[in-house]
Amino acid sequence: MYTIHDHRIIMMLFGPPGAGKGTHGPKVVDKLGTPQLSTGDMLRDAVAKDTEVGKAAKKIMNEGGLVSDDIVMGIIKDRIAEPDCNKGFILDGFPRTVKQAEMLDALLAETDEKVNLVIELQVPDSILEERICGRWIHKASGRSYHVKFNPPKSLAGRTPAAKTMKDDETGEILMQRPDDTAEALVKRLQAYHNETEPILARYKKCAYKVNANQSMDKVSVDLDNILYGLTICVMEKVSLDLDNIFVRKDLNQNVQGPLSSAFMECLGDVASKFCKGIQAIPMLFQKPKSNRQKIDEYRNTMLDKVRKQEEQPEKLVGA
Ligand code: AP5
Repeated sequence: MYTIHDHRIIMMLFGPPGAGKGTHGPKVVDKLGTPQLSTGDMLRDAVAKDTEVGKAAKKIMNEGGLVSDDIVMGIIKDRIAEPDCNKGFILDGFPRTVKQAEMLDALLAETDEKVNLVIELQVPDSILEERICGRWIHKASGRSYHVKFNPPKSLAGRTPAAKTMKDDETGEILMQRPDDTAEALVKRLQAYHNETEPILARYKKCAYKVNANQSMDKVSVDLDNILYGLTICVMEKVSLDLDNIFVRKDLNQNVQGPLSSAFMECLGDVASKFCKGIQAIPMLFQKPKSNRQKIDEYRNTMLDKVRKQEEQPEKLVGA
């Protein structure tokens, strides 16, 4: 979608264990068309394959500690150089220490890139034990289920067990992670608050908060709103149709319901934070109830435009 953009979209999904990074990541992938890179998944894969990295990481992970910065950075450095990251990537669970953030920023600076967007999923610690201890995952895809909040179809009111917990798409048996225990969670949360949270200060200019202590559907809507803003900004930049860009000052009065302040904020702020060249973006709001439809229509129009441009890439040079 964004291959003609002059830099990659580098986004970070941020939040404590159980915040919903793994739950919402795949939806962000669908929206942005860029891969989700979960260092947790990569490390679990290395453990399963019993590689040198896996051997070094296994015990630390099971106890809820953090794997060394150098190991994790090595994994990420190789991964973001792969072709599917050409349009950008979504970091999930990385960076997790200030040192990792420094290493990441230095690596990106080599190609004149930086992190564009950080979405922080906010959840109080007190609700995370239930989420973590009730989680089951599909190992191959990383799909995340919950015995209460997001049960697989196979459970059908029965007692959770290997034979009743199966992946909705493949029918394969789900598993529980060895670090998804109340004991390991204490350590994981300590690591999050002490080592990971301080990273946010570094990215505050491009960071947005989402209340993740609400239903998954509501979290999705809020995330969606931010991503719409981002998508529109990126597409505007691609289209370079700057003459038609303007901002409606009475915006907030036109907005109701799920088109929340997050969306409004991101339309205004992402434009200025993310796209240096764009001061303002077109607003599409005529009647409050038709906002969403109008945004969808606009988005589809812009996507068509981008697709057409991509079909004739030679015309884009110097566009
Ligand atoms: P990692 O795999 O990254 O785990 P994590 O950060 O602890 O995150 P989780 O996967 O536990 O949480 P999530 O936010 O994805 O939650 P989910 O969406 O599944 O890391 C594991 C380990 O690897 C680390 O402890 C460390 O040892 C090592 N590691 C990884 N990266 C590293 C790094 N960079 N440096 C050093 N070490 C590293 O949701 C959880 C549950 O809640 C699910 O069951 C879901 O269905 C449910 N749920 C989600 N949202 C809602 C909602 N809104 N309402 C109700 N239920 C919900």
